Amino acid sequence: MGKSVLFVCLGNICRSPLAEAALRGEAERLGLEVEVDSAGTGDWHIGHAPDPRAAAVARRNGVDISGLRARQVGPQDFHRFDHIVALDAQNLADLEAMRPAGAKAELSLLLDHVEGREGQAVADPYYGEEEHFDAAWADVMEGAKGLARKIAGR
Ligand code: 4NP
Repeated sequence: MGKSVLFVCLGNICRSPLAEAALRGEAERLGLEVEVDSAGTGDWHIGHAPDPRAAAVARRNGVDISGLRARQVGPQDFHRFDHIVALDAQNLADLEAMRPAGAKAELSLLLDHVEGREGQAVADPYYGEEEHFDAAWADVMEGAKGLARKIAGR
């Protein structure tokens, strides 16, 4: 049976939708069966489409994320997903505080899955410029590659 992965950032309109798209692409490339979703710790953007700048960087890299809609992470997600992967340290701390006792999900930071980048954050591009979205895309691609390799067991 395939593994399931939930990516979590603050708004679920910039970084985690990009991570979701990156892992989907990587899983497809590797022929890996994996269920992928994303969510935010905050509630401001529930039901919203990805930020246009996030959709644009995905499009520049050949991926359409415009159909995704933001949702908020909740305690039930810890029973549903094998891996919950935070984009930055604050997201991780918020998830740790929410984690129900006995839930199966393994918590990590996305860049923990990249050798030499353990503990690093994918910087929030929301108040940044296009180049910050390009940097976020590069980071989530690197993280998705490392994570996919681990899930594939190689
Ligand atoms: P994300 O970016 O966490 O990567 O989706 C943000 C989106 C919205 C806000 C902050 C960060 N906000 O403050 O509304």
